[in-house]
Amino acid sequence: MLAVLTGSATLPMLDRQQVVTNGQPWGQPSSPVWMARPVTSRHPAGATPVLVLHRHGDGVRIAPHAINYRANLHALATAGATMVLAVHTVGGIRADLMPGDLLIPDQLIDYTWGRHATYADDHDVHHAEFSEPFSASFGDLIAASAVTAGVAARRGGVYGCTQGPRLETAAEINRLERDGCAVVGMTAMPEAVLARELGLRYASVCLIVNPAAGRGVIEMDAIAQAARAGADSIAALIAGVAEMLERGKQ
Ligand code: HPA
Repeated sequence: MLAVLTGSATLPMLDRQQVVTNGQPWGQPSSPVWMARPVTSRHPAGATPVLVLHRHGDGVRIAPHAINYRANLHALATAGATMVLAVHTVGGIRADLMPGDLLIPDQLIDYTWGRHATYADDHDVHHAEFSEPFSASFGDLIAASAVTAGVAARRGGVYGCTQGPRLETAAEINRLERDGCAVVGMTAMPEAVLARELGLRYASVCLIVNPAAGRGVIEMDAIAQAARAGADSIAALIAGVAEMLERGKQ
């Protein structure tokens, strides 16, 4: 079952129903898990239902460093998720990435600290194999959905995950660029590794909402506006992936 982890770009959904997720050994997730139909201009009455969890909370705003990532991924797995499409709003570092563009990254570098990044921290040691942090086949499916939906989405690039909640200094972004990062965000880690530990296929769709620090003017209003403007394209990608998975089952 496809699950969507949404971030600052809230997506239009219909027929929202709460999914019961009994047992929360890792604490409270950011929001309930919902089953809902993504709404797009091509699916005004709602597309194939997907599971949805809002990583920053429903209504409330949980900062990236304060999110209970373990509870979120665990709740999605308990609700029956096998694939997690994570939507991330990010700053663009690579010169060809402008606000409004979409990128499906294929690598990441983790610059976060102090986050609970494993389900195995006080019992047996577990070393997750993580050479490829995102599922390539799932990324291909999203890219195919983008082509069908007529949405431009670039494939491949390194996601640099910073601690936040502040944005970066220009020097920090210079360093990330030297490290090879194409975009910078605050939430792909530890999400990606926790999904790996749970055996969930995880892929990211990044919506560029601002030029990264030192690469252009950063205005909070413009960020919010870019997040709103990108919601329909992202919903179209999700609807397309959900339909392809549904068709594949028949
Ligand atoms: N940096 C980190 N995270 C972000 C940014 C940024 O510039 N924009 C949106 N999320």
